[in-house]
Amino acid sequence: MDEIILETHKLRKEFGGLVAVNDVDLRVKRGSLHSIIGPNGAGKTTLFNLIGGNLKPTSGIIRLRGEDITDVPLHRRAHLGIGRSFQITNIFPNLTVLENVRLAAQAMGSDTFNLWTHYRRFRQYEEKAMAALEEVGLSGKEQFPANMLPHGDKRKLELAILLATDPEILLLDEPSAGMASEQVPELMDVIMRIHRDGGKTILLVEHNMNVVMNISEWITVMHQGAILAEGTPQEIAANETVQQAYLGELYKL
Ligand SMILES: Nc1ncnc2c1ncn2[C@@H]1O[C@H](COP(=O)(O)OP(=O)(O)O)[C@@H](O)[C@H]1O
Ligand SMILES: [Mg+2]
Repeated sequence: MDEIILETHKLRKEFGGLVAVNDVDLRVKRGSLHSIIGPNGAGKTTLFNLIGGNLKPTSGIIRLRGEDITDVPLHRRAHLGIGRSFQITNIFPNLTVLENVRLAAQAMGSDTFNLWTHYRRFRQYEEKAMAALEEVGLSGKEQFPANMLPHGDKRKLELAILLATDPEILLLDEPSAGMASEQVPELMDVIMRIHRDGGKTILLVEHNMNVVMNISEWITVMHQGAILAEGTPQEIAANETVQQAYLGELYKL
């Protein structure tokens, strides 16, 4: 049986009178590429904020590898292996590409620095950063100031920053947002490579339905805060309710 790495039970988030996430039971298999789709305002980002620890749920439970992590604070969740993608605004614009990724690796290292360990550790973080940059296809651009990167490369840099923190699960919220459509396939190749070669579990929110249908192993459809349907891409594309509530003209089988 496939192992469930992440699970929510009746997870709920209310903002005043608005129920943004409505008693969601989500089950994510270890090593899967699992997409969450749904119209704007469906609660996808709020769900990620709950899982990542950016928001506290109104009620419900989050379990990671069977352990209740509902009350574990944000920074500890990163150490447990949940990686939430950083926004472009979290990139230090005046540092180089490599420095940005090395800092992320360093921030995860729990050791206290002293003169003896400093140099060796520094090298380790730098190697980890180089590996992450290679994985996303930014090798050769290590010394560029981050703000000189074109938009598509900035999204790759965000992924490298995330990878440098060694997450087991990556929460990617619309990683292709703002990218020119011809650049999207390349980013998706990177995401698939991270998934396949890196053995990572990926939870993906993505609005490009062709991409979602192509790369997902499992899809959860959210609508008005609740799960409307779940299944393989084929099952979701053929689901009448999903077609009516969301896919409509976006995607036809
Ligand atoms: N911090 C917040 N305060 C109040 N309402 C919020 C907040 N964040 C999200 N919402 C509301 O919760 C609902 C779900 O939003 P969101 O999770 O961003 O949806 P999605 O990512 O699927 O587009 C929306 O109605 C949104 O306006
Ligand atoms: Mg969103």
